[in-house]
Amino acid sequence: MTKFLLDSGDPNEYIEIANLAKNSGSQLWGSTTNPSLIAKKLAGKKISQDEAFRLQKEIVLEILNIVPGAVSAEVYADEETTAQEMIDQGMQIASWNQRIFVKLPTSIEGFKARTALRREKIQVNNTLVFSEQQVFAICLHEKIMQKLYCPIQNLWPCFISPFVGRLDDINEDGMSFIENSMKMKKQYFENTPTDAPWMLEASIRRAEHIKRGILANVEIMTVPGKVYKEWLLLTKEQLQSRL
Ligand code: E4P
Repeated sequence: MTKFLLDSGDPNEYIEIANLAKNSGSQLWGSTTNPSLIAKKLAGKKISQDEAFRLQKEIVLEILNIVPGAVSAEVYADEETTAQEMIDQGMQIASWNQRIFVKLPTSIEGFKARTALRREKIQVNNTLVFSEQQVFAICLHEKIMQKLYCPIQNLWPCFISPFVGRLDDINEDGMSFIENSMKMKKQYFENTPTDAPWMLEASIRRAEHIKRGILANVEIMTVPGKVYKEWLLLTKEQLQSRL
């Protein structure tokens, strides 16, 4: 069954949504944060990258006390960031807690960092995934890492985060991309399904994205609080109309 994560950098919102989910017979399992969500909390205040990194740690540790599952924290990276810089940040992030996933961009430098972190058996979440080619490359990379450093024992498999809403924003079909990615991953790990990365549907904008993600059998999805509330309300209304 699909597990729900909250896409937020605000611990108070985690408490609110976790309670709401519980009262609706559901569960808020995990979390994704990213630099722009953390920046939201600062309300426009400018801080250095080191301070932002410290703040991310503080927030992530609070969130870990609220949700029982995986919490993703992102490395600070732009087009100039080297793999080594991502590796250094990733090693630190992973040391905060064993339920943490290091979010890495799915770029060439990101893949170099992925090699180093997986070699250390660190759990990673490949973010900024916009194409089937990227999904295929992650599956291939994960398979090679497992073959070389097998068995990679983690709490959960690695994550792949396709960005649905951002594709819709440029008039592409984000949900077809998720459906294709699920098929591709399934074929690729046909003989070893338990080693397959989990699909983490990301960049969700509306309840329809949740419905279609569940129908596509994504293992996890990360949802902004506003959309999650919309989904729970819709579910409640549908139930009431049938009673
Ligand atoms: C989560 O890991 C992603 O960073 C997030 O879902 C992106 O959402 P956005 O496209 O609304 O920024």
